Amino acid sequence: MAAEKSPIKVCITGGAGQIAYSLLLEVASGKVFGQDQPVILHLLDIEPCLEKLNGVVMELEDLALSLVRGVVATADPLKAFADVDVALLLGAFPRLKGMERKDLLAKNNDIFRTTGKAIDQVAKKSVKVVVVGNPCNTNALTCMKNAPSIPKENFTCLTRLDQNRAKSQLAAKLGVSVSQISNVIIWGNHSGTQFPDARHASVTINGARQSLTDALSDDAWVKSDFISTVQQRGAAVIKARGLSSAMSAAKAIGDHARDWWFGTKEGEFTSMGVISDGSYNIPAGIIYSFPVTIEAGGKWSIVQNLKQDDFATEKMVATYNELQEEANAAAELAAAAN
Ligand code: LMR
Repeated sequence: MAAEKSPIKVCITGGAGQIAYSLLLEVASGKVFGQDQPVILHLLDIEPCLEKLNGVVMELEDLALSLVRGVVATADPLKAFADVDVALLLGAFPRLKGMERKDLLAKNNDIFRTTGKAIDQVAKKSVKVVVVGNPCNTNALTCMKNAPSIPKENFTCLTRLDQNRAKSQLAAKLGVSVSQISNVIIWGNHSGTQFPDARHASVTINGARQSLTDALSDDAWVKSDFISTVQQRGAAVIKARGLSSAMSAAKAIGDHARDWWFGTKEGEFTSMGVISDGSYNIPAGIIYSFPVTIEAGGKWSIVQNLKQDDFATEKMVATYNELQEEANAAAELAAAAN
């Protein structure tokens, strides 16, 4: 019999929140890091949420899951990030009625500066960080800048939810299962300027893989309604539910973390927000969603040489411009705080 693996430590911030409530079962039951991988869960939330967090801890105990080898619940970032292998950063100030995007950025800039510093101080140097709290690309950048001892490649943000949304829209349009579709891309910011791109995607029908746009043969839809539906989906869920996406966000975080841990499948890529390196003429130094392939163990590479035309370039530049504005605002806030 193979020796049992040592537990990995997974920190989830916003531990008492809606997304964590769905995500915890995915992680604790082995769906993300494997059915043979024990986990110790570190849950962080703010002081006023500790009682609620305690209820979540009770439920984790009551699940009686063999892979869970310990739970730490705390409001202290230095305890929460101590020696962790993975940090899933859900906790962020929510956008309240009347708040501008820049107000949200200011509130969360503070949180992610503190988070980055704590990760720098106490997490494993190999920690994999996934930022979900919005504006997630820029929060990931802030976190990365405040954790200089951790490689930049270890900071990512979630655009898998947008990718899953895009895949689902395409599957419905084609009348196929989502499992038949691969290589849909999200470029740029997790915001209304993102560019959901179906033009490099494939669909497998009766065992034959073919270009999705050829199979669909509806360029007008791919260039308009498809893009706007995916761009606006988060806002549409908030409007309908009165709360932002939680179940689908949790599923997407699990998908992102699983692919980062185990690697992408042969011939497939996935989208995640990563540090730009000049690929596709996107200037280096911001967290931008690109298509990536990932090796087992976590080394990711941006997929190169995907053909772009004027339509794509315009969309990719627009979302870059928004990210650069956010990065400038975050830099000003950081300078004012120092
Ligand atoms: C989503 O995409 O559902 C969320 O990021 C939206 C939001 O602003 O909370």
